Amino acid sequence: KEQKLTFLRNTVRNIPDFPIPGIQFKDVTPLFNTKESLSILTDVLLEEYKGKGITKVVGIESRGFIMGPIMALELGAGFVPIRKPGKLPAEVFEEEYEKEYGVDKIQIHKDSLYEDDVVLIHDDLLATGGTMFAAYNLVKRMGVKNIYVNFIIELEELKGRTLFPKDVDIKALIQFSI
Ligand code: PRP
Ligand code: MG
Repeated sequence: KEQKLTFLRNTVRNIPDFPIPGIQFKDVTPLFNTKESLSILTDVLLEEYKGKGITKVVGIESRGFIMGPIMALELGAGFVPIRKPGKLPAEVFEEEYEKEYGVDKIQIHKDSLYEDDVVLIHDDLLATGGTMFAAYNLVKRMGVKNIYVNFIIELEELKGRTLFPKDVDIKALIQFSI
């Protein structure tokens, strides 16, 4: 497993000064690019969550839509999208959160989760944590009691974890210090 994680870590690509000068952008696309890395990534993610009785994987638009459905299929769960505003056609719950510039919103279909679902919320990256904390609050608001939170990458220095209550199960496969 350590070997697999090291491989994944080395496969993430650093793009300096994207999208603006001074930002070291962690590009996850090489993880999906070859059958080897995609299958190792899938293996490591499933290892963490199989046997937990997960019934729904919730993926956050856009980059949570890549591994989210793969995990759902392999875990025998359904997949639920959380989307940017105005994209979901039926009734939604909405949550606001702070971004670098002003506020942003995300939405989930009201009828997509039940109280007794065991939910895994997945996104590619934990930065400030604003996006995932909003997603977590959406899922909580729907009465779900059993919630796991997963990322591929965590940018440790931004301390996104500290937004969440201590008892929330948050896992990231790979840590980077910016
Ligand atoms: C990125 C990333 C996470 C979020 C993390 O998504 O994919 O969803 O930012 O940042 P935070 O922890 O500071 O909230 P982005 O909003 O850039 O959009 P995308 O997934 O559609 O590319
Ligand atoms: Mg995103």
